Amino acid sequence: MMESFSVKPVKVGICGLGTVGGGTYNVLKRNAGEIARRAGRGIEVAQIAARRPNSRCDTSGTPVTADVFAVVNNPEVDIVIELIGGYTVAREVVMQAIENGKHVVTANKALIAVHGNEIFARARDKGVIVAFEAAVAGGIPVIKAIREGLSANRINWLAGIINGTGNFILSEMREKGRAFADVLKEAQALGYAEADPTFDVEGIDAAHKLTILASIAFGIPLQFDKAYTEGITRLTSADVTYAEALGYRIKHLGVARRTDKGIELRVHPTLIPADRLIANVNGVMNAVMVNGDAAGSTLYYGAGAGMEPTASSVVADLVDVVRAMTTDPENRVPHLAFQPDELSDHPILPIAQCESAYYLRVQAKDHPGVLAQVASILSERGINIESVMQKEAEEHDGLVPMILLTHRVAEQRMDDAIAALEALDDVAGQVMRIRVEQLA
Ligand code: HSE
Repeated sequence: MMESFSVKPVKVGICGLGTVGGGTYNVLKRNAGEIARRAGRGIEVAQIAARRPNSRCDTSGTPVTADVFAVVNNPEVDIVIELIGGYTVAREVVMQAIENGKHVVTANKALIAVHGNEIFARARDKGVIVAFEAAVAGGIPVIKAIREGLSANRINWLAGIINGTGNFILSEMREKGRAFADVLKEAQALGYAEADPTFDVEGIDAAHKLTILASIAFGIPLQFDKAYTEGITRLTSADVTYAEALGYRIKHLGVARRTDKGIELRVHPTLIPADRLIANVNGVMNAVMVNGDAAGSTLYYGAGAGMEPTASSVVADLVDVVRAMTTDPENRVPHLAFQPDELSDHPILPIAQCESAYYLRVQAKDHPGVLAQVASILSERGINIESVMQKEAEEHDGLVPMILLTHRVAEQRMDDAIAALEALDDVAGQVMRIRVEQLA
């Protein structure tokens, strides 16, 4: 489908073409049409500042400079995307962009946690937006969830696994008994770790993110210097094993809690009951639980680092900024996420044409050959059985529950198979059907 917009595209400048910068460029290019339909205007990368090329991103056709200030001072650029990291050059870039009246999107948690108060004050004076969704938990839109989705609530507490590298290390130690240093090296090679990996393993990166979350949850200024930070470097495999024997998992958690006396703001290794959802967040994944007085507990889960997950949040912020740049209220956040005149006419499938895997429970008489009949009904219709489990006959009716898991198949075909199963003399009552999605 071709999109056409009467307004000129918004021009953005990307400062920094590392993991996140490269991902941002790629996502903007690949999804340009859909992003424009959401934003109401095209988004064009007018210039990139990079010290070196990124082999995972083809920037041909886009002007590239080594000088970040050339981007910041480029009169064509409406929005500066700061993806340099750190507190020094990044801070100058952001402050200069604001002085120049440009909106800013950044993924820089350290910058926001440490200098955010000053940056936001100046941005307010100049009437520009500074957006930072990508600064916390990579691809998880948790800033938006707290700032907008939970705006009715008095937030009581939040707890998060907000450093992918640390969580990856703990998960590998627990699951594979691997050594700390070895796993850290792998996280660095995968591009998850900070330039200075002590930021990850000593909890500094998590504390940056927790500081930001606490401010938007409780309405307090950013106070990174007051966060308690303890790392995971002293944990041993034996700790992990003992915690396991007690029914717990060890996670490096950031906790922010409102009490009568004040707000707790702390990052440290924590035992969590193994059956909590958040205890089962493994590898580089992040999760944040937020407890509000109206919504109760909500949980946000996803990739907390990496090229495109983080780019996903950078680009979402860009879309928000573009929507807010127009004075036309109809172009603010659209009710259905896409601009009303950009809704697609793609049809909704009837359930018969939907496809999924299935759990089937068949109540069968305990006769030889019943399983074979069931299997042949499925195979005749091209339905692949993944596993079969037969339980003991229930005493009161002598029926044997037969549980089958199938591979994915169109619902129509399964309707047909179930009708045939229910028609068998040796099958009693209705077949129980539950759809299965791996959500991988
Ligand atoms: N080093 C960070 C992490 C990157 O491992 O989570 C994302 O902020």
